[in-house]
Amino acid sequence: MPETPVLYVLNGPNLNLLGVREPHIYGRDTLADVQALCETAAEGATVVFRQSNHEGELVDWIQEARTEAVALVINPAAYSHTSIALLDALKALTIPVVECHLSNPGAREEFRRHSYVSLAAAGIVSGFGAHSYELAVKAALRLARERSASPAR
Ligand code: DQA
Repeated sequence: MPETPVLYVLNGPNLNLLGVREPHIYGRDTLADVQALCETAAEGATVVFRQSNHEGELVDWIQEARTEAVALVINPAAYSHTSIALLDALKALTIPVVECHLSNPGAREEFRRHSYVSLAAAGIVSGFGAHSYELAVKAALRLARERSASPAR
């Protein structure tokens, strides 16, 4: 692992409205609050925290993470359920990917129960509100540490 590892935390569409958008489902924490939680959970790792409403921009950032990050956490929001482009971008990574959701999509509408992104994820954290991100950050950094201790041949 580099001395100061870099972790990408990417957020998909409508997550800029966190705190005011369906708070009974997503909670009252804003995206800035979530960013602060991630930075604390990262315990010294640098967190590159971004949000976009645009699929292509998320693809660009995933590609960037290939060379810039030791691990990636992504809440793809609605693109989880629709985006083969995000899946393909994630499959091109060799770093660990953790999928993260505030709500538990498996306990919601039928159309949320399938995630393309899950096919490229080492694991999924969902249903714990903003706390899902803290767990996802810790899991992603742990996987990165494990991989650097015994890299795949
Ligand atoms: C979400 C769940 C998705 O189904 C939804 O489209 C979102 C947010 C979550 O964090 O719970 O926008 O990813």
